[in-house]
Amino acid sequence: MSTTKEKVLSFIQKAYPNPISGQLISSELAISRTAVWKAIQRLKEEGYEIDSIGRSGYQFKEPPISKALLQDQLTTTLIGKELLVFPTISSTNTKAKELADQALIGDGAVLISEEQTAARGRIGRTWNSLKGKTISLSIVLKPDLQPAKASLLTQLMAAAFINSLPENDSVKVKWPNDIVVNGKKLCGILTEMSSELTKIHYVVVGIGINTNLLVEDFPEDISSKATSLAILQNQKIEPNHLISQFLKEFETLYLNFIESEDPTPFLDSCRKASAVIGQDIYLLKGNERQLAHAVEIDDEGQLLVQLAGETDLTPVFAGEI
Ligand code: BTN
Repeated sequence: MSTTKEKVLSFIQKAYPNPISGQLISSELAISRTAVWKAIQRLKEEGYEIDSIGRSGYQFKEPPISKALLQDQLTTTLIGKELLVFPTISSTNTKAKELADQALIGDGAVLISEEQTAARGRIGRTWNSLKGKTISLSIVLKPDLQPAKASLLTQLMAAAFINSLPENDSVKVKWPNDIVVNGKKLCGILTEMSSELTKIHYVVVGIGINTNLLVEDFPEDISSKATSLAILQNQKIEPNHLISQFLKEFETLYLNFIESEDPTPFLDSCRKASAVIGQDIYLLKGNERQLAHAVEIDDEGQLLVQLAGETDLTPVFAGEI
């Protein structure tokens, strides 16, 4: 049973990005305006940044990621049942691996942070995250799959993210781990694994989502290469709703995959939203690059390319394009 404070919080969140009047909250909850006001003061004391906008009512300054709000909306049975929400952290992937190594978190645990101070990208790269403007999220999985299939979880995550957006026509998967809009990066995915030759101990699939970054928030050298959901949708994004929809999609695809071992449903989503199939691309290896034509994503999640001068297709398992 949620408290008055939690119910008031939920009203402000559901109204976001619009304000909600104290009068409306008081009549919906059948409590006095003073009780609403007191609940707002308590929420502010807890660190929620809520603006009072005259007669329009109450509105988040920057919408917070909140464990209470997430738990209120999560309808999953495995993914996110164990939920760790941090205001700031070094890296959700690093923390997830530390906790999984010590068996302190289990299958389906989700770690989320509003900010990371040492976020990691693929191939030793860094990743930028900014408080209130990005979501950093890692999921711990313990699937009974051959380790060679773990990389498919990157594409499962990409499909879950795209499927969870209400309007996703312009959102594409740049194989293997980027989500882009008009060639600009919206999300990056980093999948890491602890395994033996034939047994997975755990996989951590992490995603960084640019939610509320505006053009001026990006460093100059990145603004031509990156974008955000707020730029795409022309309005601020409420993160808890986005996260709960995303985890729901992820769970549906994941439970189906581990039961059937059939990746077709999520690979089909990635194929449909592919930014590379049908395109000429460069395969990057160190300082070298090789021209290729991207033809298809096969059932192992490999990109099949046609190299210049060759008729057979060459599978590319992982790497940079
Ligand atoms: C890339 O584009 O190279 C992948 C970026 C992955 C960033 C996410 S944010 C959540 C998780 N924690 C990390 O340190 N990295 C991933």
